[in-house]
Amino acid sequence: MVDICRNLRLKNATFQRAEISTFRLPEHSEHLPLDAALGFLSLCTTTYKDLQELLARWNSWLKPDGLIAIGTLTAANKGYPEMLEEDRGYLDNVEIEFMGFTLYETLLTDKEWQHVISTAGFDLLDKRIVEYMPKDQRCRKEIQTYYLARKRN
Ligand SMILES: C[S@@+](CC[C@H](N)C(=O)[O-])C[C@H]1O[C@@H](n2cnc3c(N)ncnc32)[C@H](O)[C@@H]1O
Repeated sequence: MVDICRNLRLKNATFQRAEISTFRLPEHSEHLPLDAALGFLSLCTTTYKDLQELLARWNSWLKPDGLIAIGTLTAANKGYPEMLEEDRGYLDNVEIEFMGFTLYETLLTDKEWQHVISTAGFDLLDKRIVEYMPKDQRCRKEIQTYYLARKRN
């Protein structure tokens, strides 16, 4: 995926492969502050605690009014419905099958996603739900949720 992005040869864009939960921008990075930070279907393996820290870090990297956009599958849309709503709103290390592989993911309810986003200092601007049917036969239909939020000043 990083190679595909690099081959686009976009002006002023750099691409780097990294573990998302431990990735840090240097304090005096030329890229700071950022306009936006995006996590599309890539925060699923980050534990709940790491997710909280990651969103707080993204907040600190953004300009005032900077944006975050997160695409994810909520607990309900991964087959873990209401029970979580009454409990703590998230589960770490849930065994998930994806394209024939076994993964361990963190699942949050929609309510918990909104709570985590707000606690990290963002105001939710928009939430959209998208139904996606991958062409690959190893995949199932996905109900994806996309959150757009602005840094609270
Ligand atoms: C389902 S794909 C989504 C790819 C792309 N963002 C998109 O929306 O089409 C999930 C991607 O997240 C990456 N990913 C998952 N966990 C990650 C982690 N802890 N750190 C960095 N990347 C991760 C995977 O390598 C993979 O490229």
